[in-house]
Amino acid sequence: MSEQGSFQVTASAGPAQALERTRRPDPCTVVIFGAAGDLTQRKIIPALYNLCLDGAPNEKLAVIGFARKAMTRDEFRTSVRETTGKFSRRKPDETVWPKFSNSLDYITGAFDSAEDFQKLKAKLAEADKNFGTAGNRVFYLSTPANMFPPILQNLKAAGLIYADASPGKAPWSRVIIEKPFGTDLATANELQGVVDACLDESQCYRIDHYLGKETVQNVLVLRYGNSIFEELWNRKYIDHVEITAAEELNVGNRARFYDQTGVIRDIVQNHLFQVMTLVAMEAPVSFAADEIRDEKAQVLRSLRPLPEDQITQNVVIGQYKGYHAEEGVKPGSRTPTYVAMKVMIDNWRWQGVPFYLRAGKCMTKRLTEVAIHFRQIPLCLFGKQDACQIIDQNVLAIRIQPDEGISLRFVSKVPGDELAVGNVLMDMSYSKAFNKAIAEAYERLIVDCMRGDATLFARSDEVNWSWRFCSPLIQALETRKDIPIPSYERGTAGPMEADKLIARDGRRWRSL
Ligand code: BG6
Repeated sequence: MSEQGSFQVTASAGPAQALERTRRPDPCTVVIFGAAGDLTQRKIIPALYNLCLDGAPNEKLAVIGFARKAMTRDEFRTSVRETTGKFSRRKPDETVWPKFSNSLDYITGAFDSAEDFQKLKAKLAEADKNFGTAGNRVFYLSTPANMFPPILQNLKAAGLIYADASPGKAPWSRVIIEKPFGTDLATANELQGVVDACLDESQCYRIDHYLGKETVQNVLVLRYGNSIFEELWNRKYIDHVEITAAEELNVGNRARFYDQTGVIRDIVQNHLFQVMTLVAMEAPVSFAADEIRDEKAQVLRSLRPLPEDQITQNVVIGQYKGYHAEEGVKPGSRTPTYVAMKVMIDNWRWQGVPFYLRAGKCMTKRLTEVAIHFRQIPLCLFGKQDACQIIDQNVLAIRIQPDEGISLRFVSKVPGDELAVGNVLMDMSYSKAFNKAIAEAYERLIVDCMRGDATLFARSDEVNWSWRFCSPLIQALETRKDIPIPSYERGTAGPMEADKLIARDGRRWRSL
């Protein structure tokens, strides 16, 4: 069978059959705290609806929105129909939507009101009766972070978290916690204290939507499903690694939140570090959740700390022009909207191999990718100076978004009598290879939580280690006014200082 043929066979199984092959989630009720918010409307409800379209989680699903905003159940249904029409990858249709809509309920409630949690308890019992959800619950915390502790405490006090969390135990209760998990090491530890008091670690699903992206998961398949890469995946053959998360958009209507957050908390501490762990980790004993997470945590443990006196050599921050005019940004704000940094992983595999990370708003275009730059050839044998100068390093680029795919840059002879060489690209595009729509990250993550699979969620030690690195850095950047924060034009690749950072090592960023 041709390679293309084997792709076709997989693709033709279709989403519903694909779910049949994996474990179907148990019946359950999903309670969304912060149900009137942006994330619920843009991501969570559309994800649940798309799961229903794909035949999971069977017919036994109920959804209860819980938020402070006064709204009736019908108003909630109408509002999410409209927003699902706008934001979902597949629009509400006449066969599945009415059933899905019928499973939606709403409670106007305060996150710190024990009484309102009793209302929730009653609604959950009703859902079990009407929808056969069998007492299983996913509690999705999609509220501002300061509301996580009261919600967890009230869930616990109302008896909605089952004490027995042993594997396979039914009914079960699980809690998805949105980012940010803390705003620094101290607050993350504080929140972890509340989590420990209310839940078992196995009931806690810290969501990082980057881990739900197909191409991020594919990093592991690429490394461990092929024999050709892993031998090369180390300091002997790799010169450096670049991880980029460039966004075209500005901070939009989240300026107030963003101004207290900044790019390191928003993107680096979670998304980029998670991607980096998958690129850098050792082979796990198996693909079980904790085996993978053990190895990811080791990477974060091995990050070389960045003492304050080395920050300026290794980190460049920036702010896009016009940031101060965004509504909600404090006058004189030093919140970075761009960062470029050089990070070292102190272990045997990666000693001496820099990981260059960069992320920013208002950049040339939206692009998230990992680029593995292999070492230059040891000696050029082609004689002619110009041929030798053309030869670039081999680069394996994993495009996370958009145009999901993988490309390999290598050198080839240019046809003709002369020994001329050129750099060429071998490119695999996800959409062309599989001819299958790529699901949103939230779909994958929510269904995994329903199945009790925590592989793609961050564990407490991972969060702790990544804060140990980022927290002192953020604190220094916030307090040390002598660290420059250059501005950059919108629609560019960021400040020039970032080019200088990488140029000091004789390298340059890939163009966006
Ligand atoms: C979120 C950040 O976690 O990720 C946003 O808070 C950012 O600021 C978003 O825009 C990017 O996600 P994606 O999936 O569009 O790359």
